[in-house]
Amino acid sequence: MLALGPVRLATNLLLAPIAGYCDLAFRTICREQGGVGLACTDLLSPQGLLRGSATSLDLAKTNDFDKPIGMQLYGADPAIMADGARWARDHGATVVDINMGCPVDKVTKKDGGSKLLCDPDRAVRLAAAVVEALAPSGIPVTTKMRLGWSEGQPVAETLAPRLAEVGVVAVTIHGRTTEQRFSGVVSHEGIRRVVQAVAGRIPVIGNGDIREPDDVPAMLRATGCQGVMIGRGALSAPWLFSRAWSLLTTGVAPPPPGETEQIEIMRRYLRMMVHNQSERYALHQIRSRISWMAKRFPPCKPFKEAVRLAPDVASVESAFDQFLAGGLRGGTEPGVPNAVIAQSLLS
Ligand SMILES: Cc1cc2nc3c(=O)[nH]c(=O)nc-3n(C[C@H](O)[C@H](O)[C@H](O)COP(=O)(O)O)c2cc1C
Repeated sequence: MLALGPVRLATNLLLAPIAGYCDLAFRTICREQGGVGLACTDLLSPQGLLRGSATSLDLAKTNDFDKPIGMQLYGADPAIMADGARWARDHGATVVDINMGCPVDKVTKKDGGSKLLCDPDRAVRLAAAVVEALAPSGIPVTTKMRLGWSEGQPVAETLAPRLAEVGVVAVTIHGRTTEQRFSGVVSHEGIRRVVQAVAGRIPVIGNGDIREPDDVPAMLRATGCQGVMIGRGALSAPWLFSRAWSLLTTGVAPPPPGETEQIEIMRRYLRMMVHNQSERYALHQIRSRISWMAKRFPPCKPFKEAVRLAPDVASVESAFDQFLAGGLRGGTEPGVPNAVIAQSLLS
């Protein structure tokens, strides 16, 4: 079974960080469906955490059910990252992850995220400082990165062994370069090369383009990786982990939950967001996500529109009820390609 240093995971399936989306409520929904070995917070600014900024504290919110939990930090300054890691240690982190894959300008302009792939020495120094800060607590450190900054210049396969040397216990590899952002298909070959580079030392978690349960064994087989992390695929199917885990352990993936159950999951998710954050937050999230959440329903444009235009949470719940009673159906909407989903998530 997959172990991150001393932390043994119940499954080898992990929920990815997706900034603005994988909050406590969403992680809880995925965990309740089953099959999640580890979930991760979205990327957190150590400065924000240390200053006590309300946004950072909201993003870092966790609870006893939300375990084991990785807290992901981004930045480029070893001392600040070490302080951030100690904060995470004191606020419930099971694992601390260092972001080495974010392509967003706001992060890379300050040398953090995937910009670290352009300066591997700095990346190693940073990881060593975080490992040292957490060593007395026994909390393991992982990193999540892309294959490299540009095509034809792989970095992960040489950086990962160096990170293992300074005490990083696992690496997650999103099989794309920074320049690719979310275009094209994930490179299993690129991930496989990292697996070979650290073979027998630390596990590799493969990431990218997992949409269906079958994609999980395909990733494991093609790359030799020990774990699989799922991001966007979970946004429209929080039960993907449980179905994929059944497939891995029994050879059969059960069908996804029926329509009624899916609506009840949405309702629970909505209520949890109101409870954890606020009605305003819950409304914003559900409006922007209803298209993906109802992606696999039969045509139901009026339902999606009712949710998108709902003035308050009660109206969203009423749309749920009407849908369950057989209303708000029909109409067609064009399919949305995955690259477009990534772009809309990023905007
Ligand atoms: C809108 C958006 C936000 C993301 N935020 C983060 C983040 O905070 N930290 C991180 O390591 N990766 C982040 N990612 C990358 C995902 O974790 C994942 O590596 C990527 O989406 C590929 O996996 P998938 O095809 O399963 O989604 C983000 C991706 C998207 C689309």
